[in-house]
Order: sequence, then structure tokens, then C-alpha cells
Amino acid sequence: MSPILELRGVGKRFGGLQALQDVSFEVRRGEILGLIGPNGAGKTTLFSTLVGLHRADAGTIQLEGRNLVGLKPHRIARLGLTKTFQNVALFMDTDVLDNVVIGALLHHPLPEARVRALACLERVGLASIAHKRAGDLSFPERARVEVARALSTEPKLLLLDEVMAALNAVEMAEMMDLIRALRADGLTVIVVEHHMKAIMALCDRIVALSFGRLLAVGSPDEIVRHPDVVTAYLGRAYAE
Ligand SMILES: Nc1ncnc2c1ncn2[C@@H]1O[C@H](COP(=O)(O)OP(=O)(O)O)[C@@H](O)[C@H]1O
Ligand SMILES: [Mg+2]
Repeated sequence: MSPILELRGVGKRFGGLQALQDVSFEVRRGEILGLIGPNGAGKTTLFSTLVGLHRADAGTIQLEGRNLVGLKPHRIARLGLTKTFQNVALFMDTDVLDNVVIGALLHHPLPEARVRALACLERVGLASIAHKRAGDLSFPERARVEVARALSTEPKLLLLDEVMAALNAVEMAEMMDLIRALRADGLTVIVVEHHMKAIMALCDRIVALSFGRLLAVGSPDEIVRHPDVVTAYLGRAYAE
């Protein structure tokens, strides 16, 4: 089966800083792919480049064979590629439902968008707090609203940027169950996450970045033993 997403030689420079360099990999349809790397490796930049918030200055990015480089974020979202934001950027003074309706408006006019948004809140287990003020939510609720908002744009490929960052072990396990359920619904998911146990348990394959370059791509077992990944990121303890 052809890959859902294909990156070839992707580069992104911010002034003198080469944030991404010659990044090439494929994302298989229906997989949960982990994206790991030390702070500053370029993970968020890669997500932002994929969804059109940054424009790649080298290489090609194709979603189901269609070029994405140069397209505006809303066009890319319409094609089925959406990301959550790393430092949860909800509109705190509006209610949960309105935060999710924003995404649904991409495909539907208002009355229908509200229905779709509510369905997305139901999907993440938050329908009962649809009318709570976003600013009053707990961290796990905020993370789920972020996922619901991304879902409301009806993605085929969903990029999750550290949605488990503020969660405890139980909340993290619940989020992992949700991510697996979304995959079972037919989504392809790329997950950025620092917590290696979560990544190992959740992902079919893992891409490792360091200083904007691809270090390795492989199964969790291959990645955890990969000498360059161990040196750059994991430390000896993970390899043993
Ligand atoms: N908008 C930007 N302008 C300038 N430099 C940036 C910008 N975004 C990220 N960077 C830099 O690019 C590098 C990669 O950052 P980032 O993608 O956020 O890494 P990660 O998500 O892996 O921690 C870092 O050195 C960061 O400071
Ligand atoms: Mg980041």
C-alpha cells in the first residue's frame, strides 16, 4: 500500500539555524508513528512544516501523492492533515464546545459544525463538559479538548504534539487508549512524546531526530537499541 505521507529531503532554516535538514521518511496508512528527539531537535518545527505553518525551504512533502509545500494551513487541513499545538492553545474564556466548533467550521456551516463538534467531544469522552469554560478545565481535559479540536477538522493523518506532557501515569494510559481507538477508527497518527515507555507501548514505528536530522527509523525495539539514538537521546540505561 502506498504511504499516506512521504517526506523527501525536507529542510527548514530559521535565519542561521538549520532547524530541519534532509529529513526523509514515509508514514504508513493506519500506523501510529512516534517522533522522538531531544529538546530542540525539530519535532514541533517538522509538525508545523507539515501542516503549512512553516514553508519547507528544501525537499518535498506529499500527502496521498499530493504536494503540500506552499499550501496554506487551511488547504492542508482540508486535505486531511491536522496537528494539535504543543502548549495547549485553547480560547480560555469561551466554552469547550466553541473551541471545537472552530475546527468543524473548516468543512461545515455553523449549525452542522456544532453537531460535528459535539460528536468529537463525545469521541474523546468530554460531551458532558461541552459548556464548561475552557479556562476551568483540568490538564487531562484540556489535552482531550485539543484532540477533539483536531478531530473536528476530520483528519486522515493526525499529529499529536506532546498531548501527554502534563498527565500522570493513569491519565497517560487513558490518552494512549484514546489514541489507539482513533487509529481503530481509521486514522493515521504521528505522536511526539518524551515519555519513552508511552512511545514504546503505543507506536508501531519510531522516527528519531537530532539537531534537525533524521537519526533512525525503525520498530520500537530497533530504535531503543540503535547506537546513535542511545547516544543522542536515550542514554545507556534504555539500551540495557
Ligand atoms: N519560529 C522559530 N524561529 C526561530 N527558531 C525557531 C522557531 N521555531 C523553532 N526554532 C528553533 O528550531 C529548533 C527546533 O525547535 P523545535 O522544533 O521546537 O524542537 P522540538 O519540538 O524538537 O523541541 C530549536 O533550536 C528552536 O529554538
Ligand atoms: Mg516541541
